Amino acid sequence: MYVTNPKINEYIMKIMPERDEVLKEMEAHARRNHFPIIGPMCGTFLRQLAMATDARFVFEMGSGFGYSAYWFAGGMKPGGKIICTEGSDKNRKLAVQYLKRGGFDSMVDFQVGYAQDIIKKYDGPFDIILNDVDKEQYPECFDLAIPRLRKGGIFITDNVLWDGYILDDNPDEETRGIIEFNRKLFSSGEILSSIIPIRDGLGFAVKL
Ligand SMILES: C[S@@+](CC[C@H](N)C(=O)[O-])C[C@H]1O[C@@H](n2cnc3c(N)ncnc32)[C@H](O)[C@@H]1O
Repeated sequence: MYVTNPKINEYIMKIMPERDEVLKEMEAHARRNHFPIIGPMCGTFLRQLAMATDARFVFEMGSGFGYSAYWFAGGMKPGGKIICTEGSDKNRKLAVQYLKRGGFDSMVDFQVGYAQDIIKKYDGPFDIILNDVDKEQYPECFDLAIPRLRKGGIFITDNVLWDGYILDDNPDEETRGIIEFNRKLFSSGEILSSIIPIRDGLGFAVKL
């Protein structure tokens, strides 16, 4: 099931401004390798969030090869910091090259390991936390992220509509992770949440 009508997606993609050369290369790399990046629509939204909140300290859970971090970095002022976390060192090496080409290398601390372990080393408070790890881990990430956000900070999560599989009668482990995550998103008294139905659904929560 498409979250957004494919023709509407096509329309938005057609009228969006062209990305810079590095982002275009990253998108081509993702297409060639069937790698699930957040894509230009959500990427633009991440950059807007960084700009609108004047974000200085961002944490990413699941950074891949740096595409989402590249969008954040472009919306942050010099001196801002993004902690990236990623399970694969091969992805880290790629990310470091791409981010350097964008002039963002000094803003990014890219750590290889389990995001849930790495975030425990920080008290925050973060201005923005992005959650984009393996989906069965989403509820655990929720519990770790919310206490580390500043008041007014934003917790943003990709794939919360999961191609409509969240409606399945017999959901698999990943889908169950997202369903439980979405329940937490709307039942916590610590945040005010929405689901933004762009691409695969973005969970958007503001810390109260
Ligand atoms: C969907 S991709 C991330 C894409 C990235 N946010 C972007 O849009 O450019 C998920 C990435 O998270 C990594 N990953 C999954 N679970 C993780 C975890 N618990 N800790 C760290 N990395 C994880 C995977 O290796 C994969 O590269």
